[in-house]
Amino acid sequence: MRTVIVLAAGMGKRMKSDLPKVLHPVLGRTLVGHVLATVGEAFGGDARTVVVVGNGAERVTSHVAEIAPEAVVALQAEQRGTGHAVRIALESAKVTEGRVIVLNGDIPMLTAETLRALERLHDEGDGAAATMLTAEVDDPTGLGRIVRTVDGGVAKIVEHRDATPEELAIREINAGAYAFDGMLLQETLAKVSTHNDQGEEYLTDVVALLVDSGRPVRAYRTADADETLGCNDRVELAALRARLRDRVNEGWMRSGVSIIDPATTWIDVTARVEPDAVIEPNTHLRGSTTVGAGAVVGPDTSLIDTDVAARATVLRTHAQGASVGEGASVGPYAYLRPGTALGTKAKVGTFVETKNAQLGEGAKVPHLSYIGDATVGEHSNVGAATVTVNYDGVAKHRTVIGAHARTGADNMFVAPVEVGDGAYTAAGSVITNDVPPGALGVARGKQRNIDGWVARRRPGTAAADAAARASGGPVDDEGAASGDVRGDRAGEEAGGR
Ligand code: UD1
Ligand code: CA
Repeated sequence: MRTVIVLAAGMGKRMKSDLPKVLHPVLGRTLVGHVLATVGEAFGGDARTVVVVGNGAERVTSHVAEIAPEAVVALQAEQRGTGHAVRIALESAKVTEGRVIVLNGDIPMLTAETLRALERLHDEGDGAAATMLTAEVDDPTGLGRIVRTVDGGVAKIVEHRDATPEELAIREINAGAYAFDGMLLQETLAKVSTHNDQGEEYLTDVVALLVDSGRPVRAYRTADADETLGCNDRVELAALRARLRDRVNEGWMRSGVSIIDPATTWIDVTARVEPDAVIEPNTHLRGSTTVGAGAVVGPDTSLIDTDVAARATVLRTHAQGASVGEGASVGPYAYLRPGTALGTKAKVGTFVETKNAQLGEGAKVPHLSYIGDATVGEHSNVGAATVTVNYDGVAKHRTVIGAHARTGADNMFVAPVEVGDGAYTAAGSVITNDVPPGALGVARGKQRNIDGWVARRRPGTAAADAAARASGGPVDDEGAASGDVRGDRAGEEAGGR
């Protein structure tokens, strides 16, 4: 059993945020959430995890309780450095020996594979006192440098602000991931001073102290420097997010997913996509979203916690908490809200909003509608511009439309209301009473035509001329040209019937 200490108490001052740095989100997890997920993936239940909290302690603690309930939290009330943080973790978890892994809470791209490889190197032979993850980077600004001895061994880690000009030229950096012998770590931390530019206890000083006392210290240099990317401000956060996006997209493309424009496709690490799905440009797959084989999603689409089954198409859509059946079609310009469940080959078309709505197999809501708190049976068609009137100002009510129903355009269904199987409703109806199976529901004003109204009330207009031509009567040329007969009282008759 190993102890894993995750450092998450720092200020994150340069983020200039109310939110503690480690809680900033990146593609589906917080920074510290990524690190804890990597720990879980690398070691499963075979690790005792201690998260050091301090800045924003309450929020970080409740976040950790949510995403890694098995982890314990240690409070570092004052942030006096990474060495101090580890000391507090060891004390609070009463760790005096055994393997101790320490991870900065702000290195979200570290993989489980690399973490395990680091630990393997640490264990090789008689084992090392300490082993740290390093990488060669183009721009080491701000990072701790790995100072090597002439024979290539590790001599020490020097922090950027304490480094000499020669040390600043070193491009091998300390990633902030370490394996330690617990007993030696505890002993050595007690000797760490605060004689540095920040007046802090640096965990990194343990390395030189161990080397000086003749203990073996190793470095595991990863070839993928991205894994060591940390994040101190929002510029670095954006760069890191883009690198993680590329890694995630590359993974899906190699597994058989077509991503048309990887630069504008953002897939959370928690989402899943099956082979032969096509992800069109400017698409976001967030949270627990899944996309089935052969489905086409996008362009310009955001799916949050939404399941899209095989061969469905989802175009220019925003969806949250929805499920889209096999071969179903959504959009363009659809808004699927939580509780939407579309059956096989169902259709939600253009400018349609759904919420807590179940559409059966082959059911269609093609145009300009709001379908909320409703069930639409299989193979039914809901006319254009339909609204389920689900809210009476106090409570929500359901609309239930049966199978093979045909509802007319511009209907209001004033819930609670039911339309039976095979029923029809007339266009423009406000349906307030149930429509029995097979019936036609009509609920609208009856039309009447007032013959000759235009000739009497709008004489000499183009309309009057057109009407006269249509009925074969004489046309008043002068009147049509003047076209200026307006503002009489006829409007009262037209408006008031
Ligand atoms: C640290 C390393 C540096 C390395 C870099 C990699 C030290 C002294 N330096 O520098 O060698 O190259 O990470 O990204 O360790 N934290 C606490 N309590 C504290 C201080 C920090 O919990 O008192 C946590 C922070 O929340 C953060 C982590 O420790 O998650 C690292 O702290 P940070 O201040 O970011 O260290 P760097 O200056 O980046
Ligand atoms: Ca850092």
